[in-house]
Amino acid sequence: MRKSGESVPLSDLKAQYRALQAELDEAVREVVESCRFIGGPAVEGFAREYAAYCGVQHAIPCANGTEAVRLALVGVLGPGDGSGEVITVSHTFAATAEAIVAAGYRPVLVDVDPHTFLMDLRAVEAARTSNTVAVVPVHLYGHMVDVEQLRDWADRYRIAVIEDAAQAHGARMNGMGPGQRSHAAAFSFFPGKNLGAWGDAGAVVTDDGPTARRISQLVDHGRGDKYSHARIGCNARMDALQAAVLRVKLPHLDRWNSARRQVARWYEELLGEVGGCVTPALMPGAQHVYHQYVIQVEHRDEVQQALNAQGIATGIHYPIPVHEQPAFAYLGIRPDDLPITHGLCRHILSLPVFPELTQAQVERVSTALSEALGVTTGAGAR
Ligand SMILES: Cc1ncc(COP(=O)(O)O)c(C=O)c1O
Repeated sequence: MRKSGESVPLSDLKAQYRALQAELDEAVREVVESCRFIGGPAVEGFAREYAAYCGVQHAIPCANGTEAVRLALVGVLGPGDGSGEVITVSHTFAATAEAIVAAGYRPVLVDVDPHTFLMDLRAVEAARTSNTVAVVPVHLYGHMVDVEQLRDWADRYRIAVIEDAAQAHGARMNGMGPGQRSHAAAFSFFPGKNLGAWGDAGAVVTDDGPTARRISQLVDHGRGDKYSHARIGCNARMDALQAAVLRVKLPHLDRWNSARRQVARWYEELLGEVGGCVTPALMPGAQHVYHQYVIQVEHRDEVQQALNAQGIATGIHYPIPVHEQPAFAYLGIRPDDLPITHGLCRHILSLPVFPELTQAQVERVSTALSEALGVTTGAGAR
């Protein structure tokens, strides 16, 4: 039965738009007035500003996050012939593995840590072969893998480290962000991301000049200059309207991420001790940006339905792991080969998290969740 109380969305892009409407509309109007829709000052400005934000030398804006992962791989390793192996996780959005295949490599999928949801570094070591050319850690939900540790390991075997930072804008591990310790990091600016465009957009960041130059060419038909094509590339450019929107939003990203961390603290206070609910672990040294706030519960589908009946939106990121997707059956990985990933998918539940979410809304979600789990917390009793 539907109870009284306002509904709570999983995220709220309209609230963000309303807060910045005048600036965003003006930025878009400027691009339209200039008719510089491809390249130009908006894209160049965003490239400079995002590189500075990430603390790296170069940012190459591109069409989307999937392309960013593919371009980072091809930019660092060159195009593959299908024999090189790239280790990543199965507990991720399919795009990570898809981009590895599109770059010409074979994804080798490993299990994750059940508490952090992140790549299990012992599983990475176990998966290494003489064909391993790269490892792609995924900073899932905005929680960074320890790239420094991974890089130390990878350097011993001349393996490249390319980060899938699609969900980790502004995240840190021991003070270092995506792109600062790896060969390159790939971001998505899909609208619902912590830094979201008004359509598809992405970027690769790197400290390596030659890699940056190759990727800049790859995104734009392999062009060295206007009429000379130095390599086979493609059209994977970010368009100027997206860059203009992102430039307006970027200065607000740290504040939004802090607000997301506050939401996570409220959830932890209210749900941390609730039986039957496992709240997300935070690794020492990590600055999480909570792109998603993911708990683990028994009877997840029933709990989700109960919350839905209360007008509370939730998500599952992701219900079917990559190794259990029909498209990746050719890899020959059985569901039980990655037992943690296989099990997690049945228990994970993403709760509403976005910068404008209020304490009262978090209390409402937590109370409804506790009721659904058959326990009470006292939250919302005030
Ligand atoms: C972990 C991860 N990798 C890659 C991508 C691909 O990004 P895009 O949707 O911009 O292509 C996403 C986007 O959802 C993602 O979450």
